[in-house]
Amino acid sequence: MCGIVGITGVEGAAGAVYKRLKLLEYRGYDSAGIASLSDGGFSLCKRRGRVYSLGGDIKHLHGKTAIGHTRWATHGKPSDENAHPHIFGKFAVVHNGIIENYAHLKDKYFSGVEFNSETDSEVAVRLLQHFYDGDILSAVKKTVKLLVGSFALVIMCSDFDGIIVAKNKNPAIIGYGVGANYCASDAPALAGLCSEITVLSDGDIAVLTSDEVTIYDGDLKRVVREKIKNPALASELDLNGCPHYMLKEIREVPQSVTKTCDAYVCTSDKLRKYLKGIERIIITGCGTAYNSGLIGKRYFESFAGIPVEVETAGEFRYKQPIITDKTAVIAISQSGETADTVEAAKLVKNLGGKVIAVTNSPYSELTRIADAVVPVEAGQEICVAATKSYTGQIAALYLLALTVAGKDVADGAKKLYSVSELTKNLIEHTDIGSLADMCARSDGVYFLGRDLDYAVATEGSLKLKEISYIPSEGYPAGELKHGTLALIDIRTTSVVIITDKSLAPKSENAVEQILSRRGKVAVITNLKDVAEELKEKALILEIPECDKYLSPILSAVIVQLLAYKTSLLLCRDPDKPRNLAKSVTVE
Ligand code: AGP
Repeated sequence: MCGIVGITGVEGAAGAVYKRLKLLEYRGYDSAGIASLSDGGFSLCKRRGRVYSLGGDIKHLHGKTAIGHTRWATHGKPSDENAHPHIFGKFAVVHNGIIENYAHLKDKYFSGVEFNSETDSEVAVRLLQHFYDGDILSAVKKTVKLLVGSFALVIMCSDFDGIIVAKNKNPAIIGYGVGANYCASDAPALAGLCSEITVLSDGDIAVLTSDEVTIYDGDLKRVVREKIKNPALASELDLNGCPHYMLKEIREVPQSVTKTCDAYVCTSDKLRKYLKGIERIIITGCGTAYNSGLIGKRYFESFAGIPVEVETAGEFRYKQPIITDKTAVIAISQSGETADTVEAAKLVKNLGGKVIAVTNSPYSELTRIADAVVPVEAGQEICVAATKSYTGQIAALYLLALTVAGKDVADGAKKLYSVSELTKNLIEHTDIGSLADMCARSDGVYFLGRDLDYAVATEGSLKLKEISYIPSEGYPAGELKHGTLALIDIRTTSVVIITDKSLAPKSENAVEQILSRRGKVAVITNLKDVAEELKEKALILEIPECDKYLSPILSAVIVQLLAYKTSLLLCRDPDKPRNLAKSVTVE
């Protein structure tokens, strides 16, 4: 959460930071700011609102070195004062993360001093100035040693024409240019600008000047960190004529499935080795990643007969999980950065367990911790709401479960390819308008299904509430009569997913129960007779028939399109929903 950028060695660095910050807005967008350094002094522009609100004002920021921030508030409301950078004395700082002991540090070092903001971050800039005696690195070292929590700090000192980066738990990368060097939270910020990057490790302190990058550990001993190819491509950040990233990314669902298949085939042998002899699986993740885990559970249990528990990472990490050498923990995360998921994976490692990461981010914190990685090849996902990464995760889990079961992975890949083709058609030809209109006029929307359809219902509900702000829940259809039915009235819509023939009559009962209470109903189905039976009573959205285990990919696309369209009808911004950010790197 929060995007940070630093540039040194570029004429008009503030303008360049502005451009790059915009590419990081998915990390937070409630306030933004840029500070530049010229002639030994800082110029600052920061305010509540999105990066574009800095607009014309940054032309007053001169100099070849600048830092910038796009914020997702943790401590202190979104406001001009709380926006970063924070400047004090000879230092300017942008911060991503949470300084958990900031109140204690404030009391200890600055008792009675009035701060300019309500943020935890301001204590960092105050400490830097407090410890500064002409030696910048020593002030940085002393400051970061005191900080408890998570941080990626980008620091300017008016005595030094360059940038210092300090990292602990929150991501920071360095990018290499010609006569210029860069740092950022995430690779997309440097796409098309730096072909090589370094992912900093926890405890690193990096010093960037226009022609040199030096990296130290926390005790200021020089360390060598690998340079890798920047995985983010500028072309991936293009909207390709789509009005929003969300629509663009839903359109990329088919290729996220096929590319994930292609990548999987190359890693399946290694994974087989890691999973040999496993007798129990725990799947963990947050939000959409957790929801894809619900689908994965069904795959492992049905194909391999291995019992699976699925736990949200935020719960799992605070339990005392029983991990044996026959337990595998699968941690799912699009970003590979989600604090709860990363900490859950660390906990498993500390308990001597095995962690398999299913992730769309090959150089993330999660991949460093994991024993093995199942790549999701969804490509860069910019919209805060996950879409193509969800279907990529389903494809990866499907193939992994086949591997564990000793089944034919090539045959599984073939089935996924054909579902990917069906998905293309579905995206192109589905008219979601009427259902979106029904939802947009509803006080509540309930997504119902059984078994795999229930798993997709949870994701449909998350997607809709996330970007339309309509109250919504995903329920097992059988649970309806145990409470949720009390919520049903003429102002509600229920979306019932029915793709399993054997369970269809049961889900149809739920439809009848809703209709009897005057609730509006839509049915997503691939069963002709269900569509025929219910067509007079409910709005029907037909999806093509496919392998029963892969129908979640098709119904997922429908609920994603539904959320997108509903969000537009309500004049929301689907790419940047209120209060949210894409990578949740704080607890
Ligand atoms: C999905 O639409 C959400 N934005 C959110 O639930 C997300 O899936 C969750 O925060 C986990 O993110 P991760 O996959 O990057 O770990």
